Amino acid sequence: STGQQLNMTSDQIRQTFLEFFESKEHSIVPSASLLPDAPNLLFTNAGMNQFVPYFLGEREAPYPRATDTQKCIRAGGKHNDLEDVGLDTYHHTFFEMLGNWSFGDYFKSEAIEWAWELITEIWEFPKERLYATVYKPEPGDPADFDQEAYDIWKAVFEKAGLDPEVHIVYGNKKDNFWMMGDTGPCGPCSELHMDLTPNGDTQGSLVNADSPYCIEIWNLVFIQFNATPDGDFVPLKSKHVDTGMGFERVAGIVATSKAFTDFLSPPSNYNSDLFTSIFDKLEALSGHTYQRTLPEDLENISELEMKDVAFRVLADHIRCLSCSIADGILPGNEGRNYVLRRILRRAVMYGRRLGLETGFFAHLAPIVIEKLGHVFPDLVNQQDIIHKV
Ligand code: SER
Repeated sequence: STGQQLNMTSDQIRQTFLEFFESKEHSIVPSASLLPDAPNLLFTNAGMNQFVPYFLGEREAPYPRATDTQKCIRAGGKHNDLEDVGLDTYHHTFFEMLGNWSFGDYFKSEAIEWAWELITEIWEFPKERLYATVYKPEPGDPADFDQEAYDIWKAVFEKAGLDPEVHIVYGNKKDNFWMMGDTGPCGPCSELHMDLTPNGDTQGSLVNADSPYCIEIWNLVFIQFNATPDGDFVPLKSKHVDTGMGFERVAGIVATSKAFTDFLSPPSNYNSDLFTSIFDKLEALSGHTYQRTLPEDLENISELEMKDVAFRVLADHIRCLSCSIADGILPGNEGRNYVLRRILRRAVMYGRRLGLETGFFAHLAPIVIEKLGHVFPDLVNQQDIIHKV
């Protein structure tokens, strides 16, 4: 097919992800609330949170395989992206994580081969721009080199006519051993990264180098251990798969590259329809136009750059606030509620940089509800309270 057909909207990306795994006998399940069950979490921060009891064998999973899109907030706590939001183009306080799950059912080969099939055959991502990372522990890191994942990726890349020596990159505990917090189910992971440079010829040199031109799009975690409070990694009875795809990143890549036909524009999640509809409203309210600039020097941000930072911050924060309020987490004085209050204050402060008037923020909520309400119905059910807060 031609690139044109694959110029997918965000809705189409989410839908085709879920349908792909449904075709592999996964049950499509709803997102859990942003308010986590686990007492040690501020917010739901990963798709796997709601499945922890299945991974630990405390409860039996009602299905062997599942797929979903999970609402996540990474602000405060172990995974905290708040300070990056707006200053870069690929971190958010609120985002959706698309996932597929095996509860003691399939393991590494299916997880890797299906990920590759969806990305390269269904979505037609250019294979030569893709890199896979494999866990290679350093002294003091848990577990062993993930030979099994390496062998599977090697076969995948060889079949695609690509050199595994170039397309497989190693990572230690920091990058390739996933933990939700300090304790709980965890294991080695393999991430897919995409080279977004104009020529796509960086040979893996930008993987895990904090470059907006090479970002992680999907993390495949092979859950095998339970990390205990005394620092042990106890093998679990069954092995599980936990994958998380950065939905806004994939939507941003498809939108910016016009379905992989043009890599000359700088990559940005904010180019996808998830954010542009909020920008349209902000432009109408403020009279300013979003110019797609990024701060060249964080110590010395120009006025124009700061306005673009403000657009990104506001679009991010209204999604975060709307979705958390819909799940019953309100801005307040303590704990997670205080994190939300800080995000709300930050939004108001950035609104002033665009000259927006008191009360402007509430006018953005209907755009979020319109965009995501069919996926997360509580946005619609709770729209009055979102507006009031
Ligand atoms: N738990 C992993 C992550 O959050 C994969 O879903 O990245």
